[in-house]
Amino acid sequence: MRLSRYFLPTLKENPAEAQIVSHRLMLRAGMIRQEAAGIYAWLPLGFRVLQNIEQIVREEMDRAGALELLMPTLQLADLWRESGRYEAYGPEMLRIQDRHERELLYGPTNEEMITEIFRAYVKSYRNLPLNLYHTQWKFRDEQRPRFGVMRGREFLMKDAYSFDIDEAAARLSYNRMFVAYLRIFARMGLKAIPMRAETGPIGGDLSHEFIILAETGESGVFIDKNVLDLPVPGEDVDYNGDLTPIIKQWTDLYAATEDVHNTARFEREVLADRRVNTRGIEVGQIFYFGTKYSQTMKAIVTGPDGVDRPVHGGSYGVGVSRLVGGIIEASHDDNGIIWPEAVAPFKVGLVNLKVGDAEADAACADLYAKLDKAGVTVLYDDTDERAGAKFSNMDLIGLPWQLVVGPRGLKNGVVELKNRATGERSELSPEAALNKLTS
Ligand SMILES: Nc1ncnc2c1ncn2[C@@H]1O[C@H](COP(=O)(O)OP(=O)(O)OP(=O)(O)O)[C@@H](O)[C@H]1O
Ligand SMILES: [Mg+2]
Repeated sequence: MRLSRYFLPTLKENPAEAQIVSHRLMLRAGMIRQEAAGIYAWLPLGFRVLQNIEQIVREEMDRAGALELLMPTLQLADLWRESGRYEAYGPEMLRIQDRHERELLYGPTNEEMITEIFRAYVKSYRNLPLNLYHTQWKFRDEQRPRFGVMRGREFLMKDAYSFDIDEAAARLSYNRMFVAYLRIFARMGLKAIPMRAETGPIGGDLSHEFIILAETGESGVFIDKNVLDLPVPGEDVDYNGDLTPIIKQWTDLYAATEDVHNTARFEREVLADRRVNTRGIEVGQIFYFGTKYSQTMKAIVTGPDGVDRPVHGGSYGVGVSRLVGGIIEASHDDNGIIWPEAVAPFKVGLVNLKVGDAEADAACADLYAKLDKAGVTVLYDDTDERAGAKFSNMDLIGLPWQLVVGPRGLKNGVVELKNRATGERSELSPEAALNKLTS
């Protein structure tokens, strides 16, 4: 992508309305635009990151055996009356009327709708286990939308729903999602810690929140610091095998949000020098809620014994749009964002120091074409800005690599490659730079 043809409305000044660094940097880097309180348009650079995150979530859900579908944002109020949540959800629910005065709502979550789909088609244990998911916009009329996309009103969530014949089978489904979540966040360069949590309006008795540590987080957390060094399962993890050793390893060490924190247990189980009390950002949550929805909504399956029973369910959310901010909170410096490669909007920022210089233009065109051919995403700064402005812009938008090309270097046969995360720079031939970026 040539910067001269891109739409990247960066800001020089810090926007006054942004209280935390990720919000500030997302506005300054031209990633989002607020359209109403807690409602954002995603500009091209931000949208690329959002899509990269969504894709990682998709790959890991698919690997764990979940099936993707897409449910609508609008739902019938009557569906929610069946579960009793239409009244219970309160003012966070955005209620809508159509021209026939039918009551609708903008979905804050999809337990009811997926249960309706399930009960229409699935009648036998033979079709279980089943896990269906989608990534769709949600609306919650939050009392205090703030911190940009971290607490929006309209936000993108991946939500998955599992169906099983009994509690034992449902716990296996829960465990699969637990492991998939470990992998999802690790792939984004995050240390997300599963913590025992309350179940809230979703209901149920087993739940973990996945939380990344950050001073700006809204949840108080208590952890054994050894939990930070636990290994994340590789992509060869066998989802049909026994996952309990992994779950045990991750849940044996103390990690809890303030809502369920038990001081006595914390002090008994965790040596003083390993106790960490800090703040964190919830990036995902998983629930096992048993027959909460299937009972009221009559999602009944026949077991191998011929007996009908309500199906056992769980739900599993990832805050896809919140993660964009969360990753920035975890990875930035004074100059701007530092994207982990897996979610970066482009892998390389190619900087032409002297646009109009025949040699520099030709070298950049050549590098750009070759990187593109190798499948490496490049944002090519071909504008006639000053070098200093180009550098600070590249640092601000945080692409993992900056490839700097100028007439002086080219005379000596070299270009400069800078690693955004380490700040390390090296001078090397264009071929060597290509090798490094494509290997
Ligand atoms: N208002 C929001 N803006 C952005 N992301 C959100 C918002 N509310 C929830 N999420 C994300 O969706 C995920 C799943 O939703 P869940 O129902 O667990 O949210 P929640 O527990 O109500 O979140 P919170 O406690 O932060 O309000 C959360 O883990 C979070 O990452
Ligand atoms: Mg939650």
